Amino acid sequence: MYRTHTCGELRISNINQTVTLAGWVQRSRKMGAMTFVDLRDRYGITQLVFNEEVNADLCERANHLGREYVVQVTGIVNERFSKNKNIPTGDIEIIVSELNVLNTSLVPPFTIEDNTDGGDDLRMKYRYLDLRRTAVRKNLELRHKMTIEVRKYLDSKGFIEVETPILVGSTPEGARDFVVPSRMNPGQFYALPQSPQTLKQLLMVSGFDRYFQIAKCFRDEDLRADRQPEFTQIDCEMSFVEQDDVINLFEGMAKYLFKEIRGVELTEPFLRMPWADAMKYYGSDKPDLRFGMKFVELMDVLKGYGFSVFDNAAYIGGICAEGAAHYTRKQLDALTDFVKKPQIGAKGMVYARVEADGNVKSSVDKFYTQEVLQRMKDAFGAKPGDLILILSGDDAMKTRKQLCELRLEMGNQLGLRDKNKFALLWVVDFPMFEWSDEENRLMAMHHPFTHPKNEDIPLLDTDPAAVRADAYDMVCNGVELGGGSIRIHDAQLQAKMFEILGFTPERAQEQFGFLMNAFKYGAPPHGGLAYGLDRWVSIFAGLDSIRDCIAFPKNNSGRDVMLDAPSALEPKQLDELCLTVAEKKA
Ligand code: AMO
Repeated sequence: MYRTHTCGELRISNINQTVTLAGWVQRSRKMGAMTFVDLRDRYGITQLVFNEEVNADLCERANHLGREYVVQVTGIVNERFSKNKNIPTGDIEIIVSELNVLNTSLVPPFTIEDNTDGGDDLRMKYRYLDLRRTAVRKNLELRHKMTIEVRKYLDSKGFIEVETPILVGSTPEGARDFVVPSRMNPGQFYALPQSPQTLKQLLMVSGFDRYFQIAKCFRDEDLRADRQPEFTQIDCEMSFVEQDDVINLFEGMAKYLFKEIRGVELTEPFLRMPWADAMKYYGSDKPDLRFGMKFVELMDVLKGYGFSVFDNAAYIGGICAEGAAHYTRKQLDALTDFVKKPQIGAKGMVYARVEADGNVKSSVDKFYTQEVLQRMKDAFGAKPGDLILILSGDDAMKTRKQLCELRLEMGNQLGLRDKNKFALLWVVDFPMFEWSDEENRLMAMHHPFTHPKNEDIPLLDTDPAAVRADAYDMVCNGVELGGGSIRIHDAQLQAKMFEILGFTPERAQEQFGFLMNAFKYGAPPHGGLAYGLDRWVSIFAGLDSIRDCIAFPKNNSGRDVMLDAPSALEPKQLDELCLTVAEKKA
């Protein structure tokens, strides 16, 4: 038997027992005749003691143990003289009588501690060592607990887990596909699924009226803190449901997970905010509602007074940061620089402070009388001590997005984005389509299988851009945790949708014939949703990036630096696949 106990298990109640432990040497220190070694495994750390005066040979061997050596020890549990209140095993130590080195280790390239000296790249290259660190290990444990609870909840609601294939066909729309060449079908490619969307709809046609899958999804898109090319969805679909049925069931699941995993009771129904309001008041389809600073539109208040920037604007809007009038000129200049960064793209920022006497002092005072500025103050409901920040531009949507960035930045600066506070909501009534400049056509905002709102169906022929969808996203703290929709289950309506999206009937048949044919065999009304597991775990763990809750993530260039993937293929492999590699065009 390698061990009788783990390194996190022994307590005062085990005193005088003879035990055997196995683990990694975290650190060792010699103090006079005594050598102390911290032995670590996934469950904790236990202090080992070697006494030169009792067993000089054994102590000598202990003095030669290097960091991360794998050892097995046998000894007696002893009450510690100086207790360590910071760890659960801190009351005891092991007086070692046998030491067995199971394996040696090179000196690790960074310290295996919570505050490691290893930079990002180094930690990713040696991710198997990084995963020995408590902070990272805890994220994976949380992820495990999360999937267990998800399965428990969905099982209790009658869902069954079905696996769908990873080698599927390429579908247009959405992100770019990762493709896999087929040796047996030269010149042909599988695609890795961006989500199991069409397959889960086929399962509805098959009568599996409550399906779920903890599904790997693949999207060849640019990476961000909350995006990986390979990620995991809690993918669900239900038959004979309307939007409210899906929302209610998955709101229940969200509440269940918050309670089981974070101990947070969310008793109130989640707010449901129409997409148009989210854009109007927060400039985002995933507003962070942990704090206020709702946008106030100022076109009526500030236009027409000779300030050409505002006079020529298609949108003027602002936010009011409560109690932030103390911002210095330097801080305000830094905020102006922030909104002018190329990624944000505003041309400038106007600010106004509400002074103690209620007067408003602004950076554009020469254009506005105090009377106009007071009207602006009233539009915000601003009080003495508040700071008003205003952006304008010739494209309302773009300006709102810039104002959204400014709002989030102010939220950060004023400490309003507390990671232990959770603001959940549903964003509903998404537009069915959005215009793509790149493609010069309408694209499905969610995906082409989304059902338009019944009352908007007549607009499909007259004004498709105004059609709203039965689509919904769950948002928490400014992160899209999941999204879904009621689907089209009628072959004719689906064909019409493809037509609006610019598919010829032949191309629609070629790409999606399998689905439209299936719909001819008694497809039930259905709808569903997918939660992003990685994002859920990172919200629960308070992480800034989903990378930290993925065992082996990709870096920002989509590389796995540990496996050195992607990599070139051997000429023999290319030959078998009938592939030649062309030079990338400049
Ligand atoms: P959608 O594309 O909105 O919907 O994806 C659902 C959820 O998956 C997560 N997600 C991601 N997480 C990490 N990295 C990524 N690159 C990434 N992309 C998406 C998000 C998102 O809300 N088939 C539909 C769902 C449905 O309609 O049922 C779908 O895939 O949390």
